[in-house]
Amino acid sequence: MSAPSPTRSLAVIGAGASGAITAAVFASEATFDTIRVFERRETPGGTWIYDADPHPPDQLHPGKLPPDVDLRLDIPNDGFPTFTAPSEQQRFDRTPIYSGLTTNVPEIAMSFSDHRFAYGPFVPHWIPKQYIQDYFSLHGVDDCLVLNTTVEDVSRIPAADTTDQWQLTLRKYDPIAKLNVWWQEKFDAVVIANGHYSIPYIPQVEGLDEYMKNFPGRVTHSKFYRSPSNYINKRVLVIGNSASGHDITTLLAHSGTAHLPIYQSRRSRSRWDGEDPPPDISWKPTIRSYNATTGAITFTDNTTLTDIDAVIYCTGYKPSYPFWNTGANGAPLYDYVEDRLIGFYQHTFSTAFPHSIGIVGIPRVLTFRSFEYQAIALARLFSQRTAKPLPPPSEMSAWESQRAALVKRERRPFHAILWDNGETREWFRYLFELSGLPVLEGMGRFPPVLDAETRWAYDHIKKYPEPKHRDGEVRMDGEWEVVERVSKDSTHFI
Ligand SMILES: Cc1cc2nc3c(=O)[nH]c(=O)nc-3n(C[C@H](O)[C@H](O)[C@H](O)COP(=O)(O)OP(=O)(O)OC[C@H]3O[C@@H](n4cnc5c(N)ncnc54)[C@H](O)[C@@H]3O)c2cc1C
Ligand SMILES: NC(=O)c1ccc[n+]([C@@H]2O[C@H](COP(=O)([O-])OP(=O)(O)OC[C@H]3O[C@@H](n4cnc5c(N)ncnc54)[C@H](OP(=O)(O)O)[C@@H]3O)[C@@H](O)[C@H]2O)c1
Repeated sequence: MSAPSPTRSLAVIGAGASGAITAAVFASEATFDTIRVFERRETPGGTWIYDADPHPPDQLHPGKLPPDVDLRLDIPNDGFPTFTAPSEQQRFDRTPIYSGLTTNVPEIAMSFSDHRFAYGPFVPHWIPKQYIQDYFSLHGVDDCLVLNTTVEDVSRIPAADTTDQWQLTLRKYDPIAKLNVWWQEKFDAVVIANGHYSIPYIPQVEGLDEYMKNFPGRVTHSKFYRSPSNYINKRVLVIGNSASGHDITTLLAHSGTAHLPIYQSRRSRSRWDGEDPPPDISWKPTIRSYNATTGAITFTDNTTLTDIDAVIYCTGYKPSYPFWNTGANGAPLYDYVEDRLIGFYQHTFSTAFPHSIGIVGIPRVLTFRSFEYQAIALARLFSQRTAKPLPPPSEMSAWESQRAALVKRERRPFHAILWDNGETREWFRYLFELSGLPVLEGMGRFPPVLDAETRWAYDHIKKYPEPKHRDGEVRMDGEWEVVERVSKDSTHFI
């Protein structure tokens, strides 16, 4: 691979935790004359902004994926800048934060390495929001923010040599003119930091579409859940037992508002689940079907609930990149069948455009801290100061195929990086060693160490108790030996 010329202008998409650290470390590298952080919301903070009104869509779409529901806006083709009438299209730009939500990773392991949260270990949602906002000003990069501005298109402008540029088409609503304003800007490099908890996912279940039509408002997703006060005397069924399912079920069971018990449908056992459900919670298996006439819900053990008033799907999210122009850029960014990025080495580096496109924030692993390793590695790479080179594209592609095969064998998500078997540490180590030291004159950021105190805190300070499991143990059930399955990784909920 021939060395590219030094890049000089950088666009960052998103001003959540990933965008904040990306702007800070690129600024410290001091090789970019221009850094612009485009954020569609009115403030930095990303996921941690609390929206009292979650703007639920008129219709939920079971089984549908982001390319079906999070559509690109029609981009004007009459030259830029230009104006169009505002659009009513659902953009999923509200966040899933609810009242009562606290962090679930001890703050020493969650915060960036150079600045701690105000207190810990688990803090209310406004602390990370304030922290991210402050992080921009702390590092003097708040003037890079371009707020209320949505990146609607990212297209490669090919060059004969290695100096590709990227054209961003940007949109901002002008509340005085009551019009959308559109314009374009060119950049040498782009870091995608747009998060992946915006588009709710609801699995398709027999009868669910009809059920939602006949009982409007009865079914929702955790993205749109806000408070137990919306569930006074309601009989509630929660689907899922990961972070959202566990937290919302517990909050409702302790609220004194919802009718008890709270039913919780589980597909697998979480690390927080003991042998029996906690008081006021009743466990059910997955749902087999909905009866849209009677309202009955039947589970895979053939039991039925006939009087449910509210169903809350806590079945997670899917990433979405409606701005990525597949035609102009040669390939899509995400494979929704395999549920993973396409053409990204180490979850971070573009195989096709290693010196001008990067992504921060996609792995399900320690959050802010891993964004820091990714951002430092990208800043060093784009500044041509890494301690060692990236491997050639063929090796990067081979890594991707090998990981795809590994996670398929182990039946786990591609971007879930495990903690308990040391995978996280190896990933951090790779990014750490690739980044290397800053230069003597002080430009650049040291990649952080993952010290004993941080590792101990992550391993021992738990938001929810984890009852002793009999995973891997053999127990007798009548004449049969039952081997309990090995428990999920300790990062399963992140
Ligand atoms: C309910 C909930 C609770 C969580 N709790 C924890 C926790 O306790 N601990 C923890 O470590 N992690 C937690 N997480 C994970 C959390 O998402 C990460 O901690 C982190 O905030 C992700 O940061 P990010 O910057 O990658 O993404 P985000 O915070 O999602 O930020 C992405 C930003 O990009 C913007 N954006 C998106 N598309 C565009 C576009 N086209 N143009 C312009 N801007 C765009 C968005 O508006 C957003 O501001 C939680 C997640 C959820 C959903
Ligand atoms: N700070 C907090 O306390 C807090 C609270 C809420 C959310 N969060 C964060 O928010 C993010 C998202 O968490 P999340 O819990 O919303 O999503 P998630 O972790 O992706 O969990 C999805 C849940 O849905 C279940 N599920 C998925 N598809 C299903 C299907 N087809 N049928 C039945 N069940 C299905 C999964 O079961 P399996 O486990 O069997 O796959 C799992 O229980 C995470 O980062 C999390 O840490 C944090």
